[in-house]
Amino acid sequence: MMLSTKLPVSMAKVAAPGQSARPVACPTPRVAGAGSARRLPVARATSTEGDEIALLEKALSIAKERAAKAKTAAAAPAAAAGGYSGPAFAIKTFNAISPVGLERFPAGKYVVSGDDAKLPASPMAIMLRSHQLKQEEVPPTVRCIVRCGAGVNNIPVPKMTELGIPVFNTPGANANAVKELVICGLLLASRGILEGNKYTEEVIYKEENMDYDKVAKRIEKDKAKFVGCEIEGKTLGVVGLGAIGGRVVNAALALGMKVVGYDPVLSLDAAWKLPGDRMGRAESLEELLKVSDYVTVHVPYIKNATHHMINGANLKLCKPNVSFLNFSRGEIIDGEALLDMYKSGRMTGKYVSDFADPFLSGHPKHLVIPHLGASTEEAEDNSAAMAADTVKDFLETGTIRNSVNFPQTVLPPKPGHVGGRLCIVNKNEAGVLGQITTFLGTQKVNIEQQINTSRGDIAYTVLDLSKIDDPAGLQDGLAKACPGVISSRFIGNMFDDEMGKPGTFFYVKWASS
Ligand SMILES: NC(=O)c1ccc[n+]([C@@H]2O[C@H](COP(=O)([O-])OP(=O)(O)OC[C@H]3O[C@@H](n4cnc5c(N)ncnc54)[C@H](O)[C@@H]3O)[C@@H](O)[C@H]2O)c1
Repeated sequence: MMLSTKLPVSMAKVAAPGQSARPVACPTPRVAGAGSARRLPVARATSTEGDEIALLEKALSIAKERAAKAKTAAAAPAAAAGGYSGPAFAIKTFNAISPVGLERFPAGKYVVSGDDAKLPASPMAIMLRSHQLKQEEVPPTVRCIVRCGAGVNNIPVPKMTELGIPVFNTPGANANAVKELVICGLLLASRGILEGNKYTEEVIYKEENMDYDKVAKRIEKDKAKFVGCEIEGKTLGVVGLGAIGGRVVNAALALGMKVVGYDPVLSLDAAWKLPGDRMGRAESLEELLKVSDYVTVHVPYIKNATHHMINGANLKLCKPNVSFLNFSRGEIIDGEALLDMYKSGRMTGKYVSDFADPFLSGHPKHLVIPHLGASTEEAEDNSAAMAADTVKDFLETGTIRNSVNFPQTVLPPKPGHVGGRLCIVNKNEAGVLGQITTFLGTQKVNIEQQINTSRGDIAYTVLDLSKIDDPAGLQDGLAKACPGVISSRFIGNMFDDEMGKPGTFFYVKWASS
């Protein structure tokens, strides 16, 4: 009997339990194993019956090995979780999350699923991508929400803030994907790539009736229509020097461009990543526009701040052949003003963007592509991994990083501390912190170290306390004594398992009121 060796390039599905699968290009036939894939032995076209039996035996042994591994993992989840033996943290997902992110949650310590029935308890965290989250989908056990991506307009953030729930996002996780497209945009602006391709397909192919010899001659003859220029030595103005802008600066320098940047509200973190000695710094947007051959914008869209930040007034300051790259948001550039500049002949450069413009649609200078900036497998993986790390950090240590509604809060563990960590969300009002510390004093509970931060109406207090006998009683008493407390949560598992059981020792005022 002959065994076929031809297996087509397939789309294998990779998914974690409870997740809908994401197609991944898979050029070789694979047998899915517990976390790893193994190649099937390749059978030769001349294989005999003996070969076939050997092949089947091999497949059976792989299947048995896989089943044994799965059984061992189920029997000893603590081993996979690095010795953790408490109940699992339950994370509810609302979209298919990249397996790269899901793998960050140690098995045994976390159960992550989109199906409530598969979770061991009501969820403590919600992880989502584009799902439009409704308030009724957030049970009182939920202590945080994380969006794999930058925008959070699918989450009712003000309501979550009121309920004391931090909302996290993953800024910068897709920055490299956008940077690469910006570099492509620079070349699209400087060379007749898209125009030449369109001309070849729509004019040359048609007129030469797809005759290869004629097409080849025409391509040579008509190339003069698409002469471009090189980007080396030209000046790129980068507006906004955050995660994407900073990467664009470095990539452009590596390509031999001169770079000038403008960012009046640059964060210290972002500033550290800039090659300050190799780039120019513009004191104003106008200054940047005057010297740039290419201008790329990497600022958030804010209605009263960055709306039409490139507009009729400052376009007049630009070099006539300046090209604009906009991979941020369409409304940052005033398309109507740019159209006027093109019509009057005062501007000849291109406008490359992954956003459409109501005034420039169809204009030959406007090279528009679908909104592809962050559309790479890697960006999705990075976002999911960053989201998972953020949730774990918050649930296990109370740390807040990358929240859109809570203040950044990091209290490193105190060496030798044996008590519990109490994380309190409270109203940002005078006297609340005093009420908390006074109450703990009356209970003879010592505060070994603490941090108190605030943002808008919300304050967040993390306290490392001496050993406590009745944590739930302490939380009840705290809530009664301090009306400004919205919720409190003990984290003991960084100190001992008893106080850190996920889902226990929660006090959520809004749930009981
Ligand atoms: N095309 C896409 O698919 C895609 C993908 C991701 C992000 N984006 C867009 O890119 C933008 C930038 O993303 P990021 O990750 O670099 O954000 P970021 O927050 O890291 O950086 C934004 C920078 O803009 C600066 N800034 C704010 N207001 C400014 C102003 N008026 N003038 C000059 N600088 C100003 C900030 O100080 C910050 O350094 C996002 O807001 C988003 O709109 C687009």
